Amino acid sequence: MDNRPIGVFDSGFGGLTVARALIDLLPGEELVYVGDTARYPYGSRRADEVRGFAVEIAEHLVAVEGVKMVVVACNTAASVALELLRSTCGVPVVGVVEPGLRAALGASVRGAVGVIGTVGTIASGSYQQAARELAPEVDLTCAACPGFVEFVERGETDSDQVHVLAERLLAPLVDARVDTVLLGCTHYPYLARTIGDVMGRDVLLVSSAEETAFDVRDVLESSGLRAEPSRHVEHRFLSSGDTEWFAEMGGRLLGPELDQARAVTFSSSGARSRNEEPTG
Ligand code: DGL
Repeated sequence: MDNRPIGVFDSGFGGLTVARALIDLLPGEELVYVGDTARYPYGSRRADEVRGFAVEIAEHLVAVEGVKMVVVACNTAASVALELLRSTCGVPVVGVVEPGLRAALGASVRGAVGVIGTVGTIASGSYQQAARELAPEVDLTCAACPGFVEFVERGETDSDQVHVLAERLLAPLVDARVDTVLLGCTHYPYLARTIGDVMGRDVLLVSSAEETAFDVRDVLESSGLRAEPSRHVEHRFLSSGDTEWFAEMGGRLLGPELDQARAVTFSSSGARSRNEEPTG
């Protein structure tokens, strides 16, 4: 038995989709969630910058919060930093890319799978690489969706504007006649109604959240790290940005477990130069 918490992080609210699945599947496990809202979106940043943020957050989770495992609940960070974190953290590290792809491959009937993600995730080639390893025969169409993350962070998940943007960005997937779309960014399940509407009712949307939670359970069990299953736990939510907004919007997205957020500060500000467009 190991009652230490599990660390979960994302650039903002997106990882709450994974946190929800973890809370539901593993009720005795306590979570410490970091939303790096001061430096989001990650998707438009350089890979080395995202890697630096990921290392900084994981170090905080292990050294300060005392977590027994780190869940990288952000596709952009997992795409560029998973192996590095696994070699530096000193605790097991679980990502979202491979579990998500596995779920999509299992769901697809015709093997025509679309993956949508941030510019950083799609450009990293992480899904293309994972597909070559897991199912080289699958017909994979990848599309970056810059701007989706910002809509979710603003709490705008179902507006005309996001619908118009989705019609434009999802056109390559519609043209490729995919039968399954993997939401390869943990923010995107909050846009599922809009994405589903644009793709049509015959196309299945798959999130990485549940499959990632199953992977976490497997790793906890095989490493002897499970907590007492029936104990009462209080999850902790940390934000590097506006903690009031994090508690308010996060509570709406996750549910009643998130009713307050604590401030956390990281040393690198991640300030952007003026010509960098924040479109993740
Ligand atoms: N939820 C993150 C992901 O899965 C969003 C990245 C961003 O901040 O652009 O990629």
